[in-house]
Amino acid sequence: MIVVTTPTGTIGRQVLENLQGSGEPIRVIARDPSRLPSYTRERVEVVQGSHGDIDIVNQAFADADSVFWLVPPDFHAESVEAAYVDFTQPACDALQSQGVRRVVGVSALGRGWHRNAGLVSASLAMDDLIASTGVSYRALAMPSFMDNILRQVEPIKNQGMFFSPLSGDRKLPTCATRDIAAVAAKLLLDSSWSGQDSVPVLGPEDLSLNDMAQIMSEVLGKPVRFQQIPGDAFKAGLTGFGMSEAMAQGTLDMMVAKNEGLDNAEPRTPQFTTPTSFRQWCEEVLKPAVLS
Ligand SMILES: NC(=O)c1ccc[n+]([C@@H]2O[C@H](COP(=O)([O-])OP(=O)(O)OC[C@H]3O[C@@H](n4cnc5c(N)ncnc54)[C@H](OP(=O)(O)O)[C@@H]3O)[C@@H](O)[C@H]2O)c1
Repeated sequence: MIVVTTPTGTIGRQVLENLQGSGEPIRVIARDPSRLPSYTRERVEVVQGSHGDIDIVNQAFADADSVFWLVPPDFHAESVEAAYVDFTQPACDALQSQGVRRVVGVSALGRGWHRNAGLVSASLAMDDLIASTGVSYRALAMPSFMDNILRQVEPIKNQGMFFSPLSGDRKLPTCATRDIAAVAAKLLLDSSWSGQDSVPVLGPEDLSLNDMAQIMSEVLGKPVRFQQIPGDAFKAGLTGFGMSEAMAQGTLDMMVAKNEGLDNAEPRTPQFTTPTSFRQWCEEVLKPAVLS
């Protein structure tokens, strides 16, 4: 039995798509099962509720061999630790009491970084908490997702611009969520691994935001320009959209660390290189979103 959290989310939905058809029994945890496609509802077991709730995870993890774990973004959390570590504590209790063997979790690059990296530091603390249960664990260590650009479809469409506090020239790895889901599903279907480790998901190449602007311009057939914004304006934008002070600061701390090389520390190897290029992602995901 494989348990999938966040089956309606960007990554979780694609993990489920990869697992369906494998013949393995699948159980999902969903707050609102009506948000699952009917195809899925007919083929998987559904536990209704939040995977941050001890009763729900105890029920969902009963007789489970492996779990796909993803902490949902919590824009209102009072601290980054509350968002990642406290949310994961009930599941850790249930992993132990229910005897789950393997967990594949969504985390971030940055192990060994010398100082606070906000959301990334909290994600790594979550990994440590899961590992402390003794379960076999693979933490998927991710750079920023290509899919984050979808949040800026409107300025790309209307102004031909996109924005970030990151420098336009720093080349960074970036990966497509479809590749993360494929790596996760492969691990969930493989019962041969044990122990605890991280699995970087680096995409096919390192690109700067200026490189991305060039590729978007070519794919969309119109000029797209990157504009760096100051950290304080970035944070004010997040709180302006209703994010808590702590989560906005944690997001900015992460961006500052990325600007200092947080995501460049992991050496690129063929094993951790994933296939979807930014150009392919723009053609298949961004362009339809901009044209719609
Ligand atoms: N974006 C990046 O560049 C990046 C990089 C590294 C790591 N990450 C990590 O990736 C994760 C985000 O993944 P994603 O993009 O797939 O997320 P997403 O698309 O925002 O999906 C969130 C999912 O969580 C569910 N959810 C929301 N609030 C919940 C709650 N309180 N209790 C239970 N379920 C809840 C949602 O389902 P319903 O609303 O249907 O219940 C949905 O299925 C985060 O942990 C983030 O730290 C992101």
